[in-house]
Amino acid sequence: MAEKPIILGIETSCDETAVSIIKDNDNGVPEILSNIISSQFDVHKEFGGVVPELAARSHVEKIDLIAKKAIKDSGVSLNSISAISATYGPGLIVCLSVGLSFAKGLSSTLGIPFIGVNHLEGHALSPKLHDKIQYPYLLLLISGGHSQYLSVNGLGNYKRLGTTIDDALGEAFDKTAKLLGIEFPGGPKIEEYARKGDPNKYELPKPIINKGGCNLSFAGLKTAILRITKKIKTDQEKFDLAASFQKTIEDILIIKTKVAFDEFKKLNSNNSGSFVVAGGVAANKGIRKKLIELSNKNNFNPIFPDLKLCGDNAAMIAMVGLEKFKNKQFDSLDLPASPRLPLDKNAKFLKGAGVVL
Ligand code: KG4
Ligand code: ZN
Repeated sequence: MAEKPIILGIETSCDETAVSIIKDNDNGVPEILSNIISSQFDVHKEFGGVVPELAARSHVEKIDLIAKKAIKDSGVSLNSISAISATYGPGLIVCLSVGLSFAKGLSSTLGIPFIGVNHLEGHALSPKLHDKIQYPYLLLLISGGHSQYLSVNGLGNYKRLGTTIDDALGEAFDKTAKLLGIEFPGGPKIEEYARKGDPNKYELPKPIINKGGCNLSFAGLKTAILRITKKIKTDQEKFDLAASFQKTIEDILIIKTKVAFDEFKKLNSNNSGSFVVAGGVAANKGIRKKLIELSNKNNFNPIFPDLKLCGDNAAMIAMVGLEKFKNKQFDSLDLPASPRLPLDKNAKFLKGAGVVL
C-alpha cells in the first residue's frame, strides 16, 4: 500500500510563528503529528497592537527553531515529507514573506512540491483536522481581521453571503478590551470579565440588525462603549459593560446567522448542512453555546474547531496543503505574498463609507 502523504505547514501571516506536520489517514481525518505555535504576545503588548516590522523580525529569529522542533516532535524524517505548504495571504506582507521564503527554500532543497495557502481557507478547513465535513457547508469566519458568512462549496470554491462593513469581530473585542484597560489582545479577557457582570446593565447598539442581509457592522458599538467608559468608575461597572457587550454580540450573531441559514438554503436547494464557526473568536464560549443552540433548532449541524485550532496555527495550513496535494494543485516558487487575498474572488469590496445596504 502506498505511504500516506505527510504535509509540513507554515504560518507567519501576523504575530504567530507556527509550523505543523500532519499525515493523511484512511478514516478521512488526518493525524496531527506536531503543531508548534510561538506567539509574539510579549513583543507587541506595550504597543496595544501588532507592529509589522517587529513581528517580521521575530518570525526571522524563530522560524528555523520552530520548524526543527515541529520535525523533531513529529517523529518523521525530513525525507518522508511529501510537500511544504505555507500561508501566502492575506496578512502583513513583511511577515508573510518570512514564512514563504522559508517554505520555498525547504521545498527546493528537498525537491518536493510547494503549495501556497490562503490563511482564511486554513480557518475554513480547520475543523477537518478532527471532523469529517461534507461540502457544501455554511461558514462563519470570525477573527481579528475578518468577519464573513460564506457558502463553502468545495476546495477553493467560496461564495460570500455577508461580511462586516467596518470592524472585524475580533477587532471589536480587542477595542472594547482596550477601553476597559485590558492588554492586547483582550478578546479572551472580555469573556472572563463578562462572567462576573450583569448583561442587562447597559443597552448597546446593534448596527444594521434589520437590514443588509447577513452583512455585519460593529463600529457603532465601540463609540457607544467609549461614551460609557468615560463615566464608569468601579470594577463591577467594567464587568457589567463587558457582560453587556458579550450579550449584544451574541444577540447580533443569532439574528444574522438566521439570515445566513436562509441564504445558504436558498443556494443549496433548500438543504441545510453543517455550520462551521472558525477563527480566533470561535473560541468564545458564550458565542459557541448560543450558536450551537441556534443550529440545533434550525436543523444545521454545528461544528467548531477544537480550542487550540481556533486561533492562528499551522496545522490548518497543512490541512489545506493536504487537500491541494491530493488534487495535485502545486504552486511555482515565484508565487508572491498576497496581503489582501480574498476567499470569494467575485465578492465586492464592502468596507468603508458609501456602502448601500
Ligand atoms: O484567528 P486569529 O487568531 O487571528 C486572525 O487571523 O485575526 O484571531 C484573533 C482574534 C483576536 O482579535 C482575539 O482577541 C480574538 O480572536 N479572540 C477572542 C477570543 N479568543 C481570541 N475573542 C473573543 N473571545 C475569545 N475567547
Ligand atoms: Zn487567522
